[in-house]
Amino acid sequence: MATPSVPWWRDAVMYQVYLRSFRDGNGDGVGDLRGARAGLPYLATLGVDGLWLSPCFPSPQHDHGYDVADYCAVDPLFGELDDVDRLLADAHALGLKVILDVVPNHCSTEHPRFREAVLAGPGSVARERFHFADGHGADGELPPNNWRAMFGGPAWTRIQEADGRPGQWYLHMFTPHQPDWNWRNPEVANHFDDVLRFWLDRGVDGFRIDVAVGLFKHPALPDSPDPAADEEARDAVNPLAWNQPEVHQVWRRWRAICDMYTASDGRERTLVGEVAVPTPADQARYLRPDELHQAFYFDLLHTPWDASAFRQRIGAAMRDIASTGAPVTWVLNNHDQQRTVTRYSRGAVLGEKPDADRGTARARAAALLMLALPGSAYLYQGEELGLPEVTDLPPEVLTDPIVTATGEPDRGRDGCRVPLPWSGTQAPFGFSDAPPERSWLPQPGWFARYTVQRLRGDGGSCWHLYRDALQLRRSLSPLHDPGLHWLPSPPEVVAFARGGKFVCAVNFSDAQVTAPVCGKPVLSSLPCDDGKLAANSAAWWLVDNPPHACGQCPPSHETVDLTVTWKGLGD
Ligand code: GLC
Repeated sequence: MATPSVPWWRDAVMYQVYLRSFRDGNGDGVGDLRGARAGLPYLATLGVDGLWLSPCFPSPQHDHGYDVADYCAVDPLFGELDDVDRLLADAHALGLKVILDVVPNHCSTEHPRFREAVLAGPGSVARERFHFADGHGADGELPPNNWRAMFGGPAWTRIQEADGRPGQWYLHMFTPHQPDWNWRNPEVANHFDDVLRFWLDRGVDGFRIDVAVGLFKHPALPDSPDPAADEEARDAVNPLAWNQPEVHQVWRRWRAICDMYTASDGRERTLVGEVAVPTPADQARYLRPDELHQAFYFDLLHTPWDASAFRQRIGAAMRDIASTGAPVTWVLNNHDQQRTVTRYSRGAVLGEKPDADRGTARARAAALLMLALPGSAYLYQGEELGLPEVTDLPPEVLTDPIVTATGEPDRGRDGCRVPLPWSGTQAPFGFSDAPPERSWLPQPGWFARYTVQRLRGDGGSCWHLYRDALQLRRSLSPLHDPGLHWLPSPPEVVAFARGGKFVCAVNFSDAQVTAPVCGKPVLSSLPCDDGKLAANSAAWWLVDNPPHACGQCPPSHETVDLTVTWKGLGD
């Protein structure tokens, strides 16, 4: 949707293609690059600006590709290098950007550098590229410190040395299959420079950076003050393992590389970081003009369905991130989180029974809200279909390493990763030519109600809502304005204006309310009577006069001007 003077990434809507579940092009039951390429016209029709491709690199797949054994090649499971080139060419011909996933915090135990390190022995140069340390205790039988891994269990695993005796320990902040790189070793930084150049030379438009608050650890690797809290939270909490000041040097270095490519051919590249930090102001530090272009704003994703919580989180992002000149990158779904339809189906009262229709209504409303906000947005595949989470996968099919590490199926992420339903009335719903039992995760029969084919044929479907919203987002000039103005509204409604001519209002309550402006909306997530906003719905209006100037609406109050000021953050 970017206008020519604005770099595309500042307000792009990107679509996350979770490769193994998007579309299977070779009939083995796992989505792949050929399938993704076949799906590109679909994305162009939907109206997104581009796609983020989850990892396609050689990997033993212990964490579904986030355990990388070679950063500059393609796993045969997904295709070959030529398939990336073809996908890039086709995407660019359709006007779609493509960003790849890069995983710099850790690799796979099958990465040649790690295997070399294990063989090379204590004190070797090869071990310096990772965090190897002697254990405590008489025989080194205790881990070097008390750190806990993100997916549960200790963050250290002891290896067997070449002589067969138990030896040193290595650090892994995720599974034991994912050793953390030691970024204090300059060779590691050099290696990743080469990785970026390798893919930039092939034409990618940027990178999504996995665990961008990781990389550096406290140099002394001291004990964490609260290992139980570190393990409990899914976000980066251990203050000694995450968010170290040195990581900013890396983002400056990567930004310089991207800027060099942009200067040479005029094509803007983006770096979008997975930056889960305690506050929006902390996140803004990753978005200084010489660091990352973007970072996912997870605060909105973690917000329960509550008007004041949404207002507060949006306001904080505008105040602490947008006001520095960096765009906010909104996100409601991804491959690590329960889908919105299911998440929002729970009532506000603890213990209230989940209600699927209410969840669907709220997810549609949240989508309109997100797409009306200034900045960029990332959609997760299936979101545009209003796909609910699959919450009843049989335990024996679960593949998420979190389930293995914690023994708690409810904490797993398989339910949002079930292959997409494209067409037809039974599994595999056009996802694959293979028989349904070969799909890497089984699709439930009720996916028949959510196929692309079916929803595209239904003008009131979620798919049409997303497509209409994306089209309007592009064509309505007030939506190119970088700021927003809060409008006065009852406590259960969030309402704001943009560019003086556009109004978005969301009703978070279970009852119809009076709309903040008169007239028929240009788009609404549920049918709207004139002057009304249905329960759990959102609407967009174009207004000739500033809101509340028509004389019939509730009286106007002072609005809050949050227009972007480009003041920057300094060092
Ligand atoms: C990121 C990814 C997640 C992965 C983890 C470890 O959070 O989004 O899927 O498991 O990093 O690489």
